[in-house]
Amino acid sequence: MTATILQGKEVAKSIREELAVEVAELKKQGLVPGLTVVLVGDDPASHSYVRGKSKGCEEVGIRSELILKEASTTEEELLGIIRDLNENPNVHGILVQLPLPAHISEKAVIAAIHPEKDVDGFHPINVGNMVLGNETLLPCTPHGVIELIKRTGTEISGKHAVVIGRSNIVGKPVSLLLQQENATVTMCHSRTQNLEEFTTKADILVVATGRAHMIGKEHVKPGAVVIDVGVNRIDSGKLVGDVKFDEVQEIASFLTPVPGGVGPMTITMLLKNTVVAARKQAQ
Ligand code: GUN
Repeated sequence: MTATILQGKEVAKSIREELAVEVAELKKQGLVPGLTVVLVGDDPASHSYVRGKSKGCEEVGIRSELILKEASTTEEELLGIIRDLNENPNVHGILVQLPLPAHISEKAVIAAIHPEKDVDGFHPINVGNMVLGNETLLPCTPHGVIELIKRTGTEISGKHAVVIGRSNIVGKPVSLLLQQENATVTMCHSRTQNLEEFTTKADILVVATGRAHMIGKEHVKPGAVVIDVGVNRIDSGKLVGDVKFDEVQEIASFLTPVPGGVGPMTITMLLKNTVVAARKQAQ
């Protein structure tokens, strides 16, 4: 079997087209969805991610603003900026790019964002609502992963899904959302013994380990849907995933590329959350 390559880029494009129509409608009603991104410091990867987010906003008609602060910015200053944004009625979504410099508490910053403006879905109230299965702003990458799996036409309900990685941003929420879609979910992580024993039983395999090329064909059940969330820069400067693309492609039914798989979906879900947040705040 040769896997169908799941082009997140194309799925993202079609969702963005739908969003552009929705935003144009909202604008006619006098509502312009607005996203403010706050970036502290000069991490090149963060700058690149933030550019992608601004570009995405432009594409669908969301008003976007970027607040750039130097790495020496204090936590107090940053919390002050968030307080102002919380009170600004033209700002419907606030995203503070992570990681933050070590002297700033990410926990305190995330908690300071108004939950209705938390388009990352990282605030403890939104995480709590997600766990409870309540309607809420979902974290963008996990939401994008679920949308991508659905677009393959794969029925998630009743399938065995294995998630490798247990981060707060990806592994934990992906597992939970898959379970809410009625999958039977196994979570694996860096301490899992005999990893293959679990992964070879997966109908759906989501890999979020942050380790380049860690998953090979020996880990994959023939015909599985494989979603690679990893983004790793290797010595040659090339971006690669956590999955050995060429060999897993030979046996999976669907496989996401890196780049161009999950990444474009993450930004698209951020745009979607901003529109949802704007609608909610306008009520
Ligand atoms: N840094 C890397 N990924 C993310 C993300 O999804 N949101 C934020 N705020 N920062 C990030």
